[in-house]
Amino acid sequence: MRDGFLLDPEVVHLNHGSFGACPVAVFEEYQALQRELEAGPTDFFTRKVARWFWGGAEQPGRLAEARGRLAAFVGARAEDLVFVPNATSGLNAVIRSLTLAPGDEILTTGHEYGAITRTWEFVGANLVMCKPDELAARIGPRTQAVFVSHITSPTALLFPVEEICSAAREAGALSIMDGAHAPGQIPLDLGALGADIYAGNCHKWLCAPKGAGFLWARPEHQGWIEPLVVSWGYREGADFAERHGWSGTRDPAAYLTVPKAIEVHATFDLERARALADEAERRLGELGYPRVEGVPAPFMRAVELPPGNPDELWARLYEEFRIEAPVYDWAGRRLLRVSIGPYNDASDVDGLVSALRELL
Ligand SMILES: Cc1ncc(COP(=O)(O)O)c(C=O)c1O
Repeated sequence: MRDGFLLDPEVVHLNHGSFGACPVAVFEEYQALQRELEAGPTDFFTRKVARWFWGGAEQPGRLAEARGRLAAFVGARAEDLVFVPNATSGLNAVIRSLTLAPGDEILTTGHEYGAITRTWEFVGANLVMCKPDELAARIGPRTQAVFVSHITSPTALLFPVEEICSAAREAGALSIMDGAHAPGQIPLDLGALGADIYAGNCHKWLCAPKGAGFLWARPEHQGWIEPLVVSWGYREGADFAERHGWSGTRDPAAYLTVPKAIEVHATFDLERARALADEAERRLGELGYPRVEGVPAPFMRAVELPPGNPDELWARLYEEFRIEAPVYDWAGRRLLRVSIGPYNDASDVDGLVSALRELL
């Protein structure tokens, strides 16, 4: 399987979770689209991607087709989903469009991705942190929104977002879900999940080229979520897709490659990846490094190492052993996160275990 990816064979890549990795077949489609664009930029942008002429209503083209395929994959209606470059952009659009009154609270956990916490801080949100299992009970009259990751980045846990969204709905609070790690790692049915707003990435576990994410919103929220960039789609009568669709000239090839990524993803042996993640967790546990408590993500595990300098260990793993696995401080604990991509095998886990034996 490793041959089907472009990864450097000299490096043990146990960090799929951060930036994904693109299979050769997907990357070839991506580059073919880029070449097609360069062979006829005007034709590509004004007739193929979508049919549009400056300022007029847009007619669907290949972008809408790709959007439809992604929507079907995540259990959504195509009209409720738009492509965005990444989960950060999608969540920025939402967070920066919210009107927050003094006293409003955003209920969240300490397991969230730091960049998005910064976005909340940027808009001056009053973030109230609580433990994941206390979320539902902590929703109160001041809670304007509940914000959590479906699969958490630092702790690699799967959160019960259906329950959280339903508790938010009952209390009249918005539910905004960060699904950066979900598409391709767990099956998604956004229509049934119960969230108000959901942002996801295709370039992580779906293995699309970098720069392919999506924003999904229930119809009643589509009107107030402003695009991060205002452009031609911002016209009277434009729907969610059109308003967020064109943000100036940029390469749409990553979006258009998503259907191919979905097709190739269907060939991955996901059971094998899950078993290898279980095995990595077991072997690290034997070394005395327990997994962070909670329900683990299928292909990603975070384990606690003895106290020490995380940056130094992370650097030594790479410099001395050519192993990519992030080590970082989380809530005063030194954690190591192992991600299992479709290309990893038992020898990668062996390598990590023996490197840690030497280094710790
Ligand atoms: C939980 C979570 N949210 C958001 C992001 C941001 O993803 P991106 O950089 O693709 O926007 C990440 C990236 O790792 C993440 O783990």
